[in-house]
Amino acid sequence: MRELVYYVAVSLDGYIAGPGGEFDAFPVEGDHMAAQIERFPEAIPTVAANAMGIEQSNATFDTVVMGWNTYAVGLPAGMTSPYQHLKQVVFSRTRTEADIPGEYPNLTVTSEDPVEVVRRLKSQPGQSIWLCGGGQLATRLAGEIDRLVLKRSPLLFGNGIPMFAPGAYQPSAFHEVSTTTFTSGVVISEYARQRVRRN
Ligand SMILES: NC(=O)c1ccc[n+]([C@@H]2O[C@H](COP(=O)([O-])OP(=O)(O)OC[C@H]3O[C@@H](n4cnc5c(N)ncnc54)[C@H](OP(=O)(O)O)[C@@H]3O)[C@@H](O)[C@H]2O)c1
Repeated sequence: MRELVYYVAVSLDGYIAGPGGEFDAFPVEGDHMAAQIERFPEAIPTVAANAMGIEQSNATFDTVVMGWNTYAVGLPAGMTSPYQHLKQVVFSRTRTEADIPGEYPNLTVTSEDPVEVVRRLKSQPGQSIWLCGGGQLATRLAGEIDRLVLKRSPLLFGNGIPMFAPGAYQPSAFHEVSTTTFTSGVVISEYARQRVRRN
């Protein structure tokens, strides 16, 4: 079955961005970068992938889901369709596709419940679904997350946007699949949801 994978960069104190949405403290140089690019080339924005000469095969992901705030990060730079090689689903209760300049057949803005949308996507054939963020959308989708891939940087933010926004979701257990420590200090850990065995 298609998995929903929350693949995200996070500080040691659990923040995915600073209080103003800034994320420039996350290191973009070092030995973790090559590993990241090799494992998830699809998770690099199209503009950056083109500049770096990276081929995006959709080997793992063919779909990305984002909250509006995450999508909007690229708008000032004109990134209206940040992941052109993926089906892009943006959640917003206040915006529609009419708020975006241009037309993009593979980008949808929807106010539908993210849980319903993700369950529908999972019931269709395809590759895994990347939960890009942010914290608000992650909280709503917490029960649907099958895998977490956390890029933990040796940083304390002290404040900011948490990996999961405050809100209600059920406790659930994951098991560690792998952890790789890089000389850059970044640690990439992967966790898969524990499934309850039925006899
Ligand atoms: N470190 C990383 O790897 C990483 C990755 C992704 C994002 N980020 C950062 O995360 C920040 C954004 O996170 P965030 O938690 O503030 O926001 P978010 O989850 O990206 O977006 C929140 C918005 O999504 C819409 N939304 C949320 N739940 C919804 C629902 N149930 N139904 C319909 N629409 C819904 C709402 O938009 P409306 O208000 O328009 O209704 C809401 O304001 C950015 O600063 C970004 O840089 C970091």
